[in-house]
Amino acid sequence: MKRIGILTAGGDTPALNATIAGAVHRANQLRVEVSGIIKGFSGLLNPQVPHVQLNPLFHSIPELDPTRGGTILGASRDYVNSDDTEMLSHVADRLGRLKIDGLVCVGGDGTLNGMQALSNHIPVVLTPKTIDNDLGLNYPDEATEWFREPSEGPRGYTEKKRPGRDFRLDEMVNYVTPGYATAVYVSSQSIERIRTTAESHRRIAIIEVMGRDSGMIALGTSYGQPDIILVPESPVEPDPLVERVLTILDKQKHAVLCVSEGIVDIEGRSLGAVTASKDPAGNQVYTGAADAIKRLLVERLGDAFFTHKRRNESADAAIFVRKVGHTQRGGRPILFDRFYASQLGGKAVDLLLQGAHNCVATLQFRDGNFALDSLDANKLRDRWGIIHARPLSPSLYDPRRFFPSPKGIEYLRTIFTNALGVDDVESIRHLFDTGKLTHPYESVNVDINKRIQRLDTLR
Ligand code: F6P
Repeated sequence: MKRIGILTAGGDTPALNATIAGAVHRANQLRVEVSGIIKGFSGLLNPQVPHVQLNPLFHSIPELDPTRGGTILGASRDYVNSDDTEMLSHVADRLGRLKIDGLVCVGGDGTLNGMQALSNHIPVVLTPKTIDNDLGLNYPDEATEWFREPSEGPRGYTEKKRPGRDFRLDEMVNYVTPGYATAVYVSSQSIERIRTTAESHRRIAIIEVMGRDSGMIALGTSYGQPDIILVPESPVEPDPLVERVLTILDKQKHAVLCVSEGIVDIEGRSLGAVTASKDPAGNQVYTGAADAIKRLLVERLGDAFFTHKRRNESADAAIFVRKVGHTQRGGRPILFDRFYASQLGGKAVDLLLQGAHNCVATLQFRDGNFALDSLDANKLRDRWGIIHARPLSPSLYDPRRFFPSPKGIEYLRTIFTNALGVDDVESIRHLFDTGKLTHPYESVNVDINKRIQRLDTLR
């Protein structure tokens, strides 16, 4: 292979540039050219395929900085529809005209589903990324546990999963995904910062973290020591929750709850999806999980409880809601993410050059160490070919204590004990540089724009 393409699809994460940098570094060593496709699959759907040469003369371009969050290539939630054969042949033709012999897609489960269609036309390898940490399996045979149940609705069925089996942590397929560690770093700090206000004003703080239908980010946020963690995989039961909140209030006069955006009630209905909107890839957009928990507590505890305890303050005023939001997805990646993202980027290039096809570069945990590996993408697919997000295993979360189980703590420990590097702490030193007051922000997009090339569409 003389030239490969790389694209970053789906939501951004802090570790994408590190992945691209790792891939380009390895390609430089192997004397392979790398074209970066602008804006994920959207770039391939555009007849001009805007792209950037990332390693002219086998040197990485200076904009490619692994410590910079986001992606210099841009990202989008567009994907290639496997039913649109005409579009697929256009995309294959465009890749041919760019002389791209193989493609690295940096993405999550949605990207992998989208990549399947392309895999019949060109060798493709996925390099995992997602702050949600839901790309992979809890154990190798997990994909066989999905079944379809007839239901009313446009598709005529609902996808469900049989209860999983017990497993050892070293059985997990793709143990952890770059982007997750930085998201947890940010969300844990947010909990610590909001805690002091809740503590001082004797309030209940409900903090919502991302993760879609996976509770992994919420689980990791236990490093910020919230009093209660709610995850989508464990439906919210109002009575035990209210009882727990009351016990905590009684003891410490305030409470901090960390709520995953995808939490559901005991009927499995999403508490956060107050609007039925979907993003371009068909994912439910979650907007109000923390608000739903606030409503529940306001209703159950009532004004009288707070008026009595807090000198006439209403329940509404005593309970406040904050979303960590996109701050957990952006900014400088911490050491764990930078290091393993770049390793996985390099691994993807090796895989392509070894002739691998439609596979995933994975990060495994074996014998107490992280190791790179790869997996045939088919192993992640259920019997109908769908790749599902990995659910947080019930064995990692204790719903009675609303906190990670001992196995959950062990899982987090393996990732986070050495996740921060000295330079992560050092980087804060520059926050108050006076130059920042006198110089406007310089976007990398300005420099990348100067490098963008396009296919001639008149041909
Ligand atoms: O999948 C990553 C993620 O950050 C989810 O945790 C979240 O629900 C979603 O993306 C938000 O997407 P967007 O930035 O498109 O609103």
